[in-house]
Amino acid sequence: MLHTLARRSGPVARRGRLVLSVALVAAAPTLATTAAETAALSIDVSKPGAKIDRNIFGQFAEHLGHGVYEGIWVGPDSTIPNTRGIRDDVVAALRALKVPNVRWPGGCFADEYHWRKGIGAGRAATLNPNWGGVIEPNSFGTHEFMDFVDQIGSEAYLSVNVGSGTPQEAAEWLEYLTTSQPTALAKERAANGHPAPYSVRYLGIGNESWDCGGNMTPDYYLSQLGIYSRFVRNFNPAQQQGPHRMLKIAVGPGGDGPRWTEWTNAIMKAWQGRSWSWDIDGLSMHSYTVVKWPPSYKSVGFGETEYSQILKSTLEMDRLIATHSAIMDKYDPQKKVALVVDEWGAWYAPSPGTNPGFLVQQNSLRDAVLAALNLNVFARHADRVRMANIAQMINVLQAMILTDKEKMVLTPTYHAFSMYVPFQDATFVPVSFDAGTYTHGDVTLPRLDAIAARDAAGRLWLAVTNLDPNRSVVVEATLAGITPKAAAGETLTAPRVDSVNTFEAPNTVVPKPIAAKIHGATLALTLEPKSVTVISVEQ
Ligand code: AHR
Repeated sequence: MLHTLARRSGPVARRGRLVLSVALVAAAPTLATTAAETAALSIDVSKPGAKIDRNIFGQFAEHLGHGVYEGIWVGPDSTIPNTRGIRDDVVAALRALKVPNVRWPGGCFADEYHWRKGIGAGRAATLNPNWGGVIEPNSFGTHEFMDFVDQIGSEAYLSVNVGSGTPQEAAEWLEYLTTSQPTALAKERAANGHPAPYSVRYLGIGNESWDCGGNMTPDYYLSQLGIYSRFVRNFNPAQQQGPHRMLKIAVGPGGDGPRWTEWTNAIMKAWQGRSWSWDIDGLSMHSYTVVKWPPSYKSVGFGETEYSQILKSTLEMDRLIATHSAIMDKYDPQKKVALVVDEWGAWYAPSPGTNPGFLVQQNSLRDAVLAALNLNVFARHADRVRMANIAQMINVLQAMILTDKEKMVLTPTYHAFSMYVPFQDATFVPVSFDAGTYTHGDVTLPRLDAIAARDAAGRLWLAVTNLDPNRSVVVEATLAGITPKAAAGETLTAPRVDSVNTFEAPNTVVPKPIAAKIHGATLALTLEPKSVTVISVEQ
């Protein structure tokens, strides 16, 4: 698998000018001081932008390593507290994040998954050839996933098997899940404990069909897309139209070289010329922060050099989205088709002593900063990027949660996501600022990043990240369109760029309260080095 990924490594070695919707000033001199500098922000609430779709905070749970088994599923007989086999501690932690959707069962796993093996009694063990070649017990199947999604208060994003499955298999899965008519499949679903139709809100038609999903050319994939889009129907009466309609997401690009721009072009061109009998609502895009394949950066035990290089690489997300959005604009100027970044996050070297096929890595303060920067990029592209899924939810890659038997710890990425909850479905508010620069070795980055949004209650939220690991920043934000009365929030930082939370020390990287001062229309606060801060403004 990693070898396969290495062949699409062009984009991750990419170099390019950092494009941000902020102005970068000339390189600041490298200071041998930790004195705070001042950055001026200007926020105009009277010029609202697009809605920041809550779905950009989606997550991805693949049958991979201990992501599902142990991370979510311990089985009803486990001594670990659980509800119908799903661990209670994990459910409580995820409920607090308001996870809008969960993509399942893969990933590469999805194109070898046969749903019938995961329903009913007496489930046969199969193999998981993609991820360590281990046994797949199939004890976590359709009903268990839908129960999990329900327990955490989320929506299902199913990825159907286009690579080694058939349109009939996928169509029957959706009929099994969603019909309210007394068909044989509906009766089977009822016999398995769920008489009522399930809601399936998002349908992914294949996964990386250009690679682990079947090595398809754009034309071959398009021929499959037409078939699956036509026949894999949702029959749930409540989902035939309106806000609960099932949205279909096609496989999109995995980088920014010609191979990927041609892929996006081909799918979008076909979509523009579509007939009444097929349609899509989203185009998927996968982009990991890896710098080079195979992943070799350590997830803990690194210094400022690796911190700055990884952040530089992650900021390429903006250019990647801009590239593919521009192609989509050509065929879809009304932005009907969403760009769905349904695999993103940091991919590091496997933690020493772990099965390399399980993609186990620690999660540090650097990952919280990285998460905030990507969420900011998605928010700035909110008109096109309406869904995203961090890879992955638990124990795999840039996880929210790590578990070891009965122990559970929340990662710095979890805390960044938690602080960003108020941005779900909030309206983007433009922030202009001079980011300044942070330089380490041959890497120069913006020192600051910021987004703002207004929630449904009209409250203004500001998220500011100080990338510089050595210098504080005093932020002075001028607010137009509201009269601020008070402002306070939370800030996330830690002693080192590679500080982590462990089972023994779970509170090394946790949010702490922060207050801001208000003078007239100006809000002032001091950002600690290497920190993510979210502030709400009373008016
Ligand atoms: O998230 C791990 C893997 O990365 C997924 O299975 C695949 O889609 C991607 O290559």
